[in-house]
Amino acid sequence: MSAFEYRDCTLYCEGVPAGELVAQFGTPLYVYSRSEIVTRFREFRSAFAALDPLIAFSVKSNGNLSVLRLLADEGAGADIVSGGELYRARLAGVPAERIVFSGVGKTVAELAAALEAGIYAFNVESAGELRELEGLGEATGVAAPIALRVNPDIESPTPHAYTRTGHRETKFGIPIEEALRLYRAAARTTGLRVRGIDVHIGSQILEVAPYVLAVQRVLEVVDELRREGIELEFIDVGGGFGIPYEGEPGVPAAKFGEALVPLLRETGLRVVLEPGRYIVGPAGVLLTRVLYIKDMGEKTFVITDAGMNDLLRPSHYASYHRVAPAEQHPERATITVDVVGPICESGDFLALDRAVEQPREGELLVIGEAGAYGFSMASTYNARPRPAEVLVDGENARLIRRRESYEDLVRGEVECL
Ligand code: LLP
Repeated sequence: MSAFEYRDCTLYCEGVPAGELVAQFGTPLYVYSRSEIVTRFREFRSAFAALDPLIAFSVKSNGNLSVLRLLADEGAGADIVSGGELYRARLAGVPAERIVFSGVGKTVAELAAALEAGIYAFNVESAGELRELEGLGEATGVAAPIALRVNPDIESPTPHAYTRTGHRETKFGIPIEEALRLYRAAARTTGLRVRGIDVHIGSQILEVAPYVLAVQRVLEVVDELRREGIELEFIDVGGGFGIPYEGEPGVPAAKFGEALVPLLRETGLRVVLEPGRYIVGPAGVLLTRVLYIKDMGEKTFVITDAGMNDLLRPSHYASYHRVAPAEQHPERATITVDVVGPICESGDFLALDRAVEQPREGELLVIGEAGAYGFSMASTYNARPRPAEVLVDGENARLIRRRESYEDLVRGEVECL
């Protein structure tokens, strides 16, 4: 059962009504359910339990320190893509040996910091990055643990082109032929420690087949390396496991596990997985207040106090998030509206042509499935302070990030006046 449900027409997060949260913390407000995060993490882990994998939670999906701490306590590691995410993960208590570092544009300073921290592996995405790491390894006397992120050249079925990363036309990964050459060269160095192999084909994937195909391609590389005497320790299958956004049944982690566990188990390699959205997406909502209802004849606009700066996904990927009143009034008629924010852009919307219960000015709306890539993609565009974040645990709601202030907005600039 979801942690967000209506009781007598009032939306609750666990034991706390949405209205109470807003009375205490204001709007827009990101609300996460502790139990839902933990339940989803455990469900994911049990789907792959036979492999005893390292589950490196993808920090980019939700990097709040309290969320990271909660997952670290559950045994999760972290998939990071920047020095900032390394900082967050370490501050939240994620052990360095459970951290993998992906991304095409890691700076030398970021590589050096992660090497010094003692992370599990760098998922290397280019020959240039490998060269930098070799130099760092030699200079410090600590061989850099590496995996090459292979580009398997497959089309992954994601809802938007921006989140497809498995084919050749993207900037991600290294073509297989080149990866083989780089592995051979890396194995001869003292600055590098060849440790694994990595693939990540995209995000919000609701099919099992592309994973199977990607893993098969990667295992061909593993076999070839083995024939050449280069033994790997781990295979990282990446993240991307999708969630249902429109209330459809979705694909449980167990389905991915059923298909992948047998394939991976026979390799004898340690397995790393990098889920983000699957763990936190359904465990969070965004609460927003209706400011105005504007009837333009052709269209009715519901103007909310949350905009694209708070939740970018609808604008950026044309993605669907459920929108509903926090207090249901079943007697109300259903009308079709655009739910839009206060930002001065026509592309600022949370939902287009959406059938909703006739909204009223001043009422609260809930935007569903906002726990992943919600706050983490929020900005201060239009000089709007970013929202607060709250973690609900049973009857208790804990502020895990305070709402930004105007002072926060100008903090880095004041000394220049
Ligand atoms: N590992 C790597 C190397 C990644 O690039 C990503 C996501 C993940 C893991 C985690 O993927 P997940 O399990 O969360 O799907 N902002 C977009 C999603 C971009 C994902 C980027 N990489 C969105 O809001 O849909």
